[in-house]
Amino acid sequence: MFPLYPHLLAPLDLGFTILRNRVMMGSMHTGLEEHPDGFRRMARFFGDRATGQVGLMVTGGISPNDAGSLGLGGATLNDSGDGHRLITDAVHQAGGKILLQVLHGGRYSRHPDAVAPSPVASRINHHVPRALSNGEILQTIEDFASCAQRARDAGYDGVEIMGSEGYLITQFISLRTNQRDDDWGGSFENRIRFPIEVMRRTREACGDDFIILYRLSLLDLVEGGLSWDETVKLAQALEAAGATMFNTGIGWHEARIPTIMHSVPRGAFTWATARLMGKVKVPLIASNRINDPAQAEALIASGQANMVSMARPFLADADFVAKAMARKADEINTCIACNQGCLDYIFKGKVCTCLVNPRACYETELVIEPAPSKKQIAVIGSGPGGMSYAITAAERGHQVTVYEAADRIGGQFNMALAIPGKEDYGETIRYWGSQIKRLSITLKLNHQAEAAELQASGYDEVILATGVRPRALDLPGIDHPKVMSYVDVLQEGKAVGERVAIIGAGGIGFDVAEFLSNADGPGDPAKPDIDRWLREWGIDRDPSHDGGLSPAGPVMQSPRRITLLQRKAQALGRGLGMTTGWAIRAELQMKGVELVGGVTYRKIDDAGLHITVDGEDRVLNVDNIVICAGQEERRDLNTDLLASGMTVHLIGGADVAVELDALRAIEQGTRLAAA
Ligand SMILES: Cc1cc2nc3c(=O)[nH]c(=O)nc-3n(C[C@H](O)[C@H](O)[C@H](O)COP(=O)(O)OP(=O)(O)OC[C@H]3O[C@@H](n4cnc5c(N)ncnc54)[C@H](O)[C@@H]3O)c2cc1C
Ligand SMILES: Cc1cc2nc3c(=O)[nH]c(=O)nc-3n(C[C@H](O)[C@H](O)[C@H](O)COP(=O)(O)O)c2cc1C
Ligand code: SF4
Repeated sequence: MFPLYPHLLAPLDLGFTILRNRVMMGSMHTGLEEHPDGFRRMARFFGDRATGQVGLMVTGGISPNDAGSLGLGGATLNDSGDGHRLITDAVHQAGGKILLQVLHGGRYSRHPDAVAPSPVASRINHHVPRALSNGEILQTIEDFASCAQRARDAGYDGVEIMGSEGYLITQFISLRTNQRDDDWGGSFENRIRFPIEVMRRTREACGDDFIILYRLSLLDLVEGGLSWDETVKLAQALEAAGATMFNTGIGWHEARIPTIMHSVPRGAFTWATARLMGKVKVPLIASNRINDPAQAEALIASGQANMVSMARPFLADADFVAKAMARKADEINTCIACNQGCLDYIFKGKVCTCLVNPRACYETELVIEPAPSKKQIAVIGSGPGGMSYAITAAERGHQVTVYEAADRIGGQFNMALAIPGKEDYGETIRYWGSQIKRLSITLKLNHQAEAAELQASGYDEVILATGVRPRALDLPGIDHPKVMSYVDVLQEGKAVGERVAIIGAGGIGFDVAEFLSNADGPGDPAKPDIDRWLREWGIDRDPSHDGGLSPAGPVMQSPRRITLLQRKAQALGRGLGMTTGWAIRAELQMKGVELVGGVTYRKIDDAGLHITVDGEDRVLNVDNIVICAGQEERRDLNTDLLASGMTVHLIGGADVAVELDALRAIEQGTRLAAA
């Protein structure tokens, strides 16, 4: 009805040249929306991505009124929207287009004035919402329309109406949250009246030449979610009411199924978008875990979608599209779906950034400029800390030599990528490799750096990024042949028996349990077994169950009986990421891994591992005991270097040994080199 993007429906001209017009940067609320200096920083953030050839992008969710804001003081657009001009000007000057996402939180709003169709509280928010009156519903619809109008006045090319992930619109649509018996509840037709009216009034208010993208929940992944037939009917009704195109939304936030984290296979949900192709005439956009240009292009070429949305990949690399179009895809800094710098930060109330790109959302502050004087710099260690320092320093014009004792770059990321689900960590190593070539960094592999050699070479500065070594455990029997470290398992490939105890349930302990409970080992991230993953998590590919759910359960049994142990008496996995920990725990439980806390380790002998739990002595009769009991800084070189008068900087694990802390290592390396 509103073919503002006729090229999306036209035949393809392949070769990555399509990506500028077929890739959209998906909506991400970064926390800059509420930051005092947010508009200036967002202008730079979005402007950089437009310069990087992203043709279309969407802002983070902005509420149309105070009740719908995500938290107290959450961003709304119910005033003149002056600050937004900075954003739209920056994007337009760089030749891009930008939509404002209108998102009403409904019962997900974390404040006492939260409203919803019915007073049904959510598992993930302790505020019980108040039911909207009929008059308030009509006013909320007007608020959506006038918010879109203000967005238009502020220069936006359109809006995205957030109709998925369990926010207000979905709360109206689902029986799970809508218990009304008036015109807005009960029958399907009544329940979809709210989104249809929002669309109709927004179109009326903004005119035909304004893009109205609607984020449609293709799979609710909760009990009481929409059936497939209802989803199609909703899409058709929204199309008739004025939608320009549809973006894919997957899963309510309260769903017990992961939808974006690292263990979600690439392109895990594109089939849901493909299923809607042909059911409506307007273009459809696929989303979630699409992080590779060849994957994006293949998706469009095969007719599974008209366009692809990528959100986090543009945190990881503002120049993703430009690099792909210049046929330099190997230089893309790929999103590894760790959630550590983005979603986890948002949940902690921090401004979002990116583990592999600490400049994301800090573009105005973390500036990389040519160095006033060029130096000779030695970087010892090619893990995340060393590589991020080396790349940034070389970009500034310094002459950098990287020494690496191993036969390959990457440090501990070489172990991380062996974990099923973390295969994408290998992409970061690939990216670092491409930058070594591009920036002519000298790389000395299989080269254990020594103080005398470094001093003789006359470096101006030495960066010690030598990482960590596993912490030794003081326990009777620790030298028993059954005992091995996580390095023996993940790096040395030592054979592990069928009954295993893992000592230490930090991030690495959980990763080792994942590794050992998986019969296949890591896979090729470009060819994931999506069907198996969907069956394991109980996601229905056939449109037979409401909400897209089907019975879950392990498709492949663990080849080992594994017990994961920790000293602390609390639940295991507390230290894992806020947005990933619950799913990692669930994955292990699915595979039958026993999680035991409050353990006192007594000794190891031929009988196995002797422990005490809740005052009761137990012997775990196991073939192997894998030690994942923390790490300590590896900085032996430091004393000798300092004694010889050299300028030395410690970064990453060599500075502070914390288990899963590549985020800190990369940020520290980048910031030190930028300074
Ligand atoms: C299985 C596993 C999974 C992980 N998953 C995650 C995760 O999901 N998220 C996260 O944030 N972190 C994760 N980590 C931790 C992360 O990899 C580390 O925090 C990070 O690698 C630390 O970086 P670094 O540069 O300080 O040191 P390292 O990565 O340890 O690199 C140090 C390098 O220095 C080299 N070296 C040491 N001494 C010398 C010398 N004298 N001369 C030359 N070279 C030397 C070493 O060979 C090594 O390559 C994981 C770690 C493991 C083991
Ligand atoms: C930090 C962060 C904030 C997000 N905020 C929003 C939001 O405000 N509105 C929205 O529709 N989706 C939001 N999302 C979801 C993304 O739009 C996207 O669906 C998700 O990240 C999966 O796509 P990706 O794998 O390309 O990142 C957010 C995601 C992240 C990581
Ligand atoms: S922090 Fe991790 S998940 Fe988030 S954008 Fe960066 S690489 Fe991707």
